[in-house]
Parts: sequence; structure tokens; C-alpha cells
Amino acid sequence: MGYDNLKFPEGSTFLVTGSAGFIGSNLVEAILKLGYKVRGLDNFSTGKKENVEEFLNNPNYDFLEGDIRDIDTCFKACEGIDYVLNQAAWGSVPRSIEMPLFYEEVNIKGTLNMMEAARQTGVKKFVYASSSSVYGDEPNLPKMEGREGNVLSPYALTKSVNEEYGKLYKKLYGLDTYGMRYFNVFGRRQDPNGAYAAVIPKLIKQLLNDEVPTINGDGQQSRDFTYIENVIEANLKACMASHEAAGHAFNIAYGGREFLIDIYMKLMNALEKDIQPIFGPDRIGDIKHSNADITKAKDLLGYNPEWSFEQGIVEAIEWYKENL
Ligand SMILES: NC(=O)c1ccc[n+]([C@@H]2O[C@H](COP(=O)([O-])OP(=O)(O)OC[C@H]3O[C@@H](n4cnc5c(N)ncnc54)[C@H](O)[C@@H]3O)[C@@H](O)[C@H]2O)c1
Repeated sequence: MGYDNLKFPEGSTFLVTGSAGFIGSNLVEAILKLGYKVRGLDNFSTGKKENVEEFLNNPNYDFLEGDIRDIDTCFKACEGIDYVLNQAAWGSVPRSIEMPLFYEEVNIKGTLNMMEAARQTGVKKFVYASSSSVYGDEPNLPKMEGREGNVLSPYALTKSVNEEYGKLYKKLYGLDTYGMRYFNVFGRRQDPNGAYAAVIPKLIKQLLNDEVPTINGDGQQSRDFTYIENVIEANLKACMASHEAAGHAFNIAYGGREFLIDIYMKLMNALEKDIQPIFGPDRIGDIKHSNADITKAKDLLGYNPEWSFEQGIVEAIEWYKENL
């Protein structure tokens, strides 16, 4: 269970792109705790300086400010690296509908640049962030790899294309690539601010500030909300996975399902608030329900998530209380 006891060869080196963001900064922190060397790469477009500053004094950490759209930066970042954890991308379904060209540049071209640099510099494993949005309009639950529908947004399409390249790079060049289809990740350092913030940190912040939150839709939508610790475990286990498991994408979730309105009630109770939310329109490009079958990641990566939604949300709330 977990990742605390994972052992990589001595002197192993990791590159985390998007290291100033939510998931990337948590990956950096976990790898440093395990005692390995990590390089971070970020252009601070959505990430924050304060997310990388706390590691700068660690001799096992070095940071490169740069953009994955620039191939020379990608080569520089991959120099001397064994494992790449590619998290850099722009998130948010609605924002991608507003600016599809930009998403193509960053999420598709940027990830392809990273894959190409990784292959040419002899990186051992290339683990990259995909998303549950690749399931698109496929209505059946739970979501299973191999049963995808039509994508509903440019964002989802970029992740699908990443997965196609991941498959191709294994087949053509023998690069071990592993796609992490994250399902609504939450936890410390996830940004609660801005129009495109994820729902959990946004609600926690609004409730802490006694603001009236707007919930998109009727609150009856459900998601497989996944605590950050499970995502760290999945990434590190993918770095240890077999060559046979490469070229695939995996659902990375807890394997549960929470309704948004129930989450809202739980947050109100935990924060001792009594505020009635406003219900707004549904968001375009969103699906109503999502929940993952995680058998493939369990079987091929040895993924065994130990953090339930209930356990994760307690820690997340504590963090936001102390850090907002
Ligand atoms: N958080 C989730 O629930 C979730 C769900 C599914 C998939 N994902 C994927 O996981 C990854 C990480 O997401 P996150 O929630 O940590 O987002 P985030 O916005 O907090 O982090 C992304 C980081 O990438 C950096 N970045 C963006 N464009 C860049 C570029 N061109 N060059 C270098 N750095 C760049 C940003 O500055 C930021 O620090 C993304 O690929 C995202 O699509 C996240």
C-alpha cells in the first residue's frame, strides 16, 4: 500500500514538469522525501512561485524555469533524467472551449516535445498526465479503459491525442510511456482562485470566507474524487512498471463516487457553516456522472489506493484552514 517504501536504484533522477502546479508540486515533495533527485520545470502560467520556493534549499532539487512548447528547453530539462513525470498542461474544460488553439499548442505540442526529448535523451520511463475527460459522452459506469466515447471539449481531445502519441512512442521507438487518467484530483496546494478553479478548493474557500457559492447544475452530478496521495502513488508505481505495461493509459482514481451536493453538505458540517448555495446552469462540456474501474492500474501497475474520499477531505480541509 502507498508509496513510502518504494525503492528506486540509488542516484535515480526525476523530472517533474508543471512542478509549480498542484499535482506537480506534490510529486516533487514526495520524491524529495523518498531521497531522490528531482528537477522541476514550469513557466508559472498557472502555477505559483510559492509552490516551488519551499524546495529550493534542498540539494536534491533543481528548478528550470521554461516552457514545454520550446523543444530546446525540453532537451535541457531531460538531460541526465531517468524518469519523467509530465504534468505541465492547461486544465479546465470550459476554458479550453474558449481557447482551443492555445490548448493545442501547450497540451499537444508541449507534451509531444517532452516525449521526443525524453526518447532522444534515453529517459527510462515517461509518465504523463491524462484525464478522465477522454471518456467523453460514453454513458456507462464505471468508466473502463477501452470503452471511450466521443470527446466533448478541446481539453479532452488534447489528452486523447497525448495517449495516442504515448501508444505510438512505445510502438515505434520503444519508449516506456504510461498515461495517468486522473479523475478529479483534490488536496493541498490545489488553487481555489479564479473562474476555472476546481470545485472542492473553491467551495472550501468560499465557505471559509462566508460567501454564498454557486453550484453549476443541480448538485446531483457525481465524480470519483481522488485524493492527491493516491495520484502520487500511481505516478511512482508507473515509474517501476514493466515494459509490457507501457503504451497504455490507466484510470487513476479511488474507485468511489461522490455527489456534489453531498460534498457541499460535508464541507458545511466540517467548517461549521450554514450557507444555502445558489444553483446555476450546467457547464457545457461536462458530463453528469463519473466513476472509475481501477482494475487495470491495480493489475499492471500494482496501484492500490489507500486514501478514501472521506480520509482525504479531512486532510484537505485542515490544509486550507491553515494556508488560506
Ligand atoms: N487536477 C485534476 O483534477 C486533474 C484531472 C485530470 C487531469 N489533470 C492533469 O494533471 C496535470 C496537472 O494538473 P494540475 O491540477 O496540477 O494543474 P495546475 O494548473 O495546478 O498545474 C499545471 C502546471 O503546469 C504549468 N504549465 C502550464 N503550461 C506550461 C508550459 N507551456 N510550460 C511549462 N509549464 C507549464 C503551470 O504553470 C502549472 O504550474 C495537467 O496535465 C492536468 O491536465 C488534472
